[in-house]
Amino acid sequence: MKALILVGGFGTRLRPLTLSVPKPLVDFANKPMILHQIEALKAVGVTEVVLAINYQPEVMLNFLKEFEKKLEIKITCSQETEPLGTAGPLALARDKLIDDSGEPFFVLNSDVISEYPLKEMIEFHRGHGGEASIMVTKVDEPSKYGVVVMEETMGRVEKFVEKPKIFVGNKINAGIYLLNPSVLDRIELKPTSIEKEVFPNIAAENKLYAMVLPGFWMDIGQPKDYITGLRLYLDFLRKQSSSELASGSHIIGNVLVDESAEIGDGCLIGPDVAIGPGCVIEPGVRLSCCTIMRGVRIKKHACISGSIIGWHSTVGRWARVENMTILGEDVHLGDEVYSNGGVVLPHKEIKSSILKPEIVM
Ligand code: GDD
Ligand code: MG
Repeated sequence: MKALILVGGFGTRLRPLTLSVPKPLVDFANKPMILHQIEALKAVGVTEVVLAINYQPEVMLNFLKEFEKKLEIKITCSQETEPLGTAGPLALARDKLIDDSGEPFFVLNSDVISEYPLKEMIEFHRGHGGEASIMVTKVDEPSKYGVVVMEETMGRVEKFVEKPKIFVGNKINAGIYLLNPSVLDRIELKPTSIEKEVFPNIAAENKLYAMVLPGFWMDIGQPKDYITGLRLYLDFLRKQSSSELASGSHIIGNVLVDESAEIGDGCLIGPDVAIGPGCVIEPGVRLSCCTIMRGVRIKKHACISGSIIGWHSTVGRWARVENMTILGEDVHLGDEVYSNGGVVLPHKEIKSSILKPEIVM
């Protein structure tokens, strides 16, 4: 089986992290977002993943080469010369997606995280005999997503409305599709939206089916949702009784610590924290609901909550970092500095406190 991952878009909502790497390479729970997806695809027998990209393909491919070998999966790029939206890239990659087997292929948005019940999805797809399957999930605020109205017993989609202005329902498109090759005949090679143009048409012919996604789901393309997504993901690891989670008297709740990270005495860590490779957490540090990316140093007695600390940054002694602060790559926050929601661009040195949420250029 084959799969295509939509990795275009500039990831502006995840700046300043996406100023250093394309969004799918931003770490989530200690590994690039896209690896969570590639691993899930590999697990159900996908042999080739096509990355639909509209900028910096070299960065992506160089990075993923290592994983191509490790995971024994073929990873190729299909590059757009202009952004083709969420459907156009499928037309562009047509030859890569179709082979003699006539099998359906997966399409994934690159910024969603879930348990990826892809095996169940294949069974669902075989069972209904329609042309396309999509996963849906319930959310409280459906207006920023694609809303799906479906018939409950078989899951046939009656209506698909992208980002509705008025309430249509609370089941939304989770950005995980399984499509028959015939869907490609519906897509022209030009900028097109799968949500606005393709799905509504398939639904009108009663050939679009939706499966309610079991387990958690989150679009982690914005900082607040990224932090919530980490909580849900770690909770999922806990339910799986994953041995990856840290334990000890200094750990509260669900915490992921890379084996190469060092943690000093007297720290209190958790809940919902991910500490990446090579990090040094000095003695007496307090961390909760945050992501500490590769190579970061947190100096003595600093306190961080609800924030993301980008690659190779440092946080000074007694610093206090909270309220959705995001430090880009290689940011250095001085001793005793307070950051209340500061969003700091890469390679900055911050010597005075950031008292209210703002972007520091
Ligand atoms: N190759 C390519 N080219 N990819 C693109 C382009 C493009 O021009 N534009 C967007 N993408 C990719 C993004 O990188 C992302 O992986 C996916 O397509 C969806 O784009 P987003 O910009 O993240 O859309 P959204 O989050 O507002 O809405 C989409 O996702 C929701 C679920 O998270 C829609 O699919 C909604 O229906 C859905 O509910
Ligand atoms: Mg998104």
